[in-house]
Amino acid sequence: MLILGIETSCDDTSAAIVRDGKEILSNIVSSQDEFHKAFSGVVPEIASRRHLESINHVVKYAFEEAGLEMGGVDSIAVTTRPGLIGSLIVGLSAAKAYAYSWNKPIIPINHISAHLYSAAFGGDLDYPLIGLVISGGHTLLIKASSPTDLEFLGTTIDDAVGEAYDKIAKHFGLGYPGGPVIDRLASQGDSRAYNFPMSLLNQDKHRYNFSFSGIKTAVIHQRDRFKKDSSKSEDVKDIAASFQNTVSEILLEKVKRAVRDTGIKRVAVAGGVAANSSINRVFTEQDEFKAVFPPRKLCTDNAAMVAGIAFHVKEKYSYKEAMLFDAKSRIIKKGYKK
Ligand code: KG4
Ligand code: ZN
Repeated sequence: MLILGIETSCDDTSAAIVRDGKEILSNIVSSQDEFHKAFSGVVPEIASRRHLESINHVVKYAFEEAGLEMGGVDSIAVTTRPGLIGSLIVGLSAAKAYAYSWNKPIIPINHISAHLYSAAFGGDLDYPLIGLVISGGHTLLIKASSPTDLEFLGTTIDDAVGEAYDKIAKHFGLGYPGGPVIDRLASQGDSRAYNFPMSLLNQDKHRYNFSFSGIKTAVIHQRDRFKKDSSKSEDVKDIAASFQNTVSEILLEKVKRAVRDTGIKRVAVAGGVAANSSINRVFTEQDEFKAVFPPRKLCTDNAAMVAGIAFHVKEKYSYKEAMLFDAKSRIIKKGYKK
């Protein structure tokens, strides 16, 4: 089965064609980083407008690269939530229009389950598994019994991991997105140079939850201290390496808790921050569980993960039914039967 995937939940416009949930025929990603850089973060208004300009070209390239005629797929999968509403609307509206003109069903996809599924392109996923989705907007510890059956065990009580990277990079004047540049600097620094707080939230109700705002603030203060004391030479590389090492240890400790508590020894790590070299190393080098990561370029937002998981999603909608997405619940509450 051939599925076209469309992903526009944040600031990447992407379209991909995947066969049977596994074989990627094309995966086009149009990044908007250069338009958001000046603001050190994603500006929703700019994101929606850029999606609008790019979406049809990106879909056309996806068919060209796959060697298919426009419309030569069985279904259209599209991210419907969570995400920036203006951005999601562009992808969903495009999907509805294509579904109408090609008479194909629409498969609505949850962005988090798509991220977790992206690990299937990096290795075999045996269920049940423990999932860790770490991105700019999300930090989620998950128990997955199938690609579409997710039980959320824990989340962040403040910043997402990627958000902490991006905010630190902003404070350090390193640009946006912060993850890749801090990762690069960290590889040249001493990870034992500084002790940053390991916030492990040991209370029962936070057993699987995360907190990253404390370490973010400590890292920013460390840098400010250097700025004030000119006798000390500032070493951003050591700060980056120490920060990155602490974050990796926190994530590993939380995942180990879930592994020990559930007895599930398979872990999938996904989302933009899964591209991080230290996290990858720390998770791969331990031997308490087997960790699977997506290929690096499928960690950040892409439509291959959307088209991939869609193969395992049962609910398919005609474009007419798709018109009611999101509006559906309100219409039913008002008592309309249609
Ligand atoms: O999954 P994604 O593209 O978007 C969301 O769904 O949020 O993730 C983007 C996030 C950004 O915060 C970015 O700084 C982070 O992923 N990121 C990284 C790395 N590459 C991207 N964080 C740490 N290390 C990396 N190598
Ligand atoms: Zn994402």
